[in-house]
Amino acid sequence: MKKTKILFAVVVLTVLFVNCTNKSDEYTDPRGTDYAGSESCIECHQPQYEMASHSSHFKATAPAIPENVLGDFDSKNHVFIYDKNTKLVMEKRNDSLYQVLYKNGKEVEAHRFEIVFGTKHAQTSVYWRSNNTYELPLSYYNSIHNWATSPGFPADKPYFDRQVIKDCYACHSSNISSKSVNQSSEEKNFMSMDVEDVINKKTIVYGIDCERCHGPAKKHAEFHLKNPNVKAANSIVSYKSLNRQQKLDACALCHAGNDGMKLKSRFDFKPGDNLSDYYRDTKSITDTANFDVHGNQFRLMAQSKCFVNSDKMDCITCHNPHQNASPNLASYSKICMTCHQGIEHKATTLKMMPAKLLADNCVECHMPKKSSNAITFQLSNSKALSKYILRTHRIGIYPAAKK
Ligand code: HEC
Ligand code: HEC
Ligand code: HEC
Ligand code: HEC
Ligand code: HEC
Ligand code: HEC
Ligand code: HEC
Repeated sequence: MKKTKILFAVVVLTVLFVNCTNKSDEYTDPRGTDYAGSESCIECHQPQYEMASHSSHFKATAPAIPENVLGDFDSKNHVFIYDKNTKLVMEKRNDSLYQVLYKNGKEVEAHRFEIVFGTKHAQTSVYWRSNNTYELPLSYYNSIHNWATSPGFPADKPYFDRQVIKDCYACHSSNISSKSVNQSSEEKNFMSMDVEDVINKKTIVYGIDCERCHGPAKKHAEFHLKNPNVKAANSIVSYKSLNRQQKLDACALCHAGNDGMKLKSRFDFKPGDNLSDYYRDTKSITDTANFDVHGNQFRLMAQSKCFVNSDKMDCITCHNPHQNASPNLASYSKICMTCHQGIEHKATTLKMMPAKLLADNCVECHMPKKSSNAITFQLSNSKALSKYILRTHRIGIYPAAKK
């Protein structure tokens, strides 16, 4: 009798103890208790997780640990010369990476890589200064396998004061919280009642994760953990139930430029919401001839006859939302052919490229690569601006192809 009582007590205590440790180990998402975090999706959605966790979306921002940072820190390609007395050097010190400014051979200032943006074409980094992030003057570009000025930065003198504002994170991360505080009393003057945004580091959810696209999913995950026999999705927005505009809006949120008039934060967007409740079109958006190939896939695609004259084209027509854009151009030809079977090109076109080759290269002629007007950069010791080249999403007939 006594033995069973003791045993019972031990069991109760063990259960309590295990529960307690579980509680403290439990992941709490900075977005709040409605969110479960991507790791919790693995056990039921392994394929989607495997794909998405390797995608550029997941890496759109990341902590600047050496594994995540592109570029050379010790070979010949790690020095940028501004003038004969001034250079910026990429340096590894212990486990941290820095951009270090030297004047006449003397170190003047050093800023640590803290957060990286991007991996595919380019990577830019930021450092922390008084609870805000500032862009480092040099970025890494895959097209030249080298460092060059961050977009819009000068090549004749280093510049450390470009704040990377919350807007950047709203397209490149899944959460970041900031609050407005009055400036410290020394800085305050009577004429301006300046308030400054300060970012809470601990609230950053790096990259574009599952719940950034699918909305909060804690309830969904908990339901299915408790009800393993239920096979139909519970407590989650289904993309299948959305209309075409809602599906487009879920991608256009971050792929339709950044010049609308802001009504609500992008961070508040959930699938099924209307983008028109977040951004109002402004004059620059009606300037349709000048849409940039960078960051504006939606509006370019929306100008194509394919989009206008068919009622089904959206981003998912050509992209798996959990994977990067396929580099295999022939795979897109197959998609073109679902709507353009039996397409016959003129003899002059076929002279440029034989029919067999043409069949695999629709994209090369009809979605050609174009240089961005928004993004340019300069190499060390060079006055010339280098171009940033992306494929246009305005599907059409281009003069280069006509020649
Ligand atoms: C305990 C298992 C379980 C966990 C954990 C889980 N899900 Fe699910 N989920 C399901 C089941 C079951 C379905 C329905 C069958 C299917 O579509 O795979 C589903 C379906 C979905 C769908 C498709 C909905 C539709 O109808 O189109 C999405 C999106 C989704 N889950 C997202 C998530 C995300 C994001 C997480 C992590 C935060 C997550 N799930 C965690 C079990 C789970
Ligand atoms: C919260 C903002 C956001 C949303 C929502 C979003 N994207 Fe993106 N997307 C980005 C950013 C930022 C990048 C660039 C990431 C990088 O390279 O650092 C990107 C990159 C991509 C790429 C290129 C990836 C590669 O490396 O080839 C594709 C394709 C893409 N997005 C498609 C989509 C589609 C389709 C949707 C809708 C289902 C969508 N995106 C929704 C922000 C977003
Ligand atoms: C860039 C936005 C985006 C991200 C990030 C994303 N999804 Fe999805 N997901 C979608 C879209 C859009 C669909 C609908 C695809 C369709 O209709 O073909 C989808 C469909 C799904 C489905 C339904 C089955 C399927 O594969 O079509 C599941 C399950 C799912 N996602 C889980 C996840 C999980 C888990 C993660 C994180 C590891 C994740 N998603 C990340 C946009 C995203
Ligand atoms: C409106 C959404 C949006 C905003 C705001 C935005 N970006 Fe992006 N950014 C994108 C998208 C989408 C891509 C990838 C596709 C492209 O270049 O068209 C991208 C690409 C990039 C890349 C190249 C990524 C790669 O893998 O090649 C870098 C670096 C970058 N952005 C940094 C920034 C910084 C820094 C800011 C703020 C100054 C910023 N972005 C603001 C949407 C945005
Ligand atoms: C969802 C169906 C659909 C898909 C997918 C599609 N198109 Fe189209 N496309 C159309 C329709 C509809 C038109 C308009 C035909 C018309 O008005 O006579 C069109 C028109 C065109 C035109 C003529 C454009 C002009 O300005 O005169 C070209 C070129 C074209 N498509 C190429 C492509 C290529 C290349 C792809 C693949 C990358 C593709 N399309 C994918 C439906 C589609
Ligand atoms: C008709 C097919 C088609 C449709 C529809 C389409 N894309 Fe693409 N997308 C492509 C092709 C082709 C590429 C270039 C692949 C390459 O060159 O490696 C691409 C590349 C991209 C990239 C990477 C840019 C780069 O150069 O790295 C992004 C981002 C992207 N698409 C976003 C979108 C978004 C968002 C939508 C919906 C608004 C969309 N796409 C609709 C065919 C399409
Ligand atoms: C070598 C460049 C090139 C390639 C590759 C190419 N096209 Fe074209 N395409 C053209 C040119 C130039 C025209 C306009 C003259 C013509 O019709 O031949 C055209 C016209 C078209 C049109 C409009 C025809 C009309 O009557 O309005 C469509 C649709 C089209 N192409 C689809 C495709 C598809 C689908 C593929 C891939 C199977 C493809 N093209 C591959 C250059 C190309």
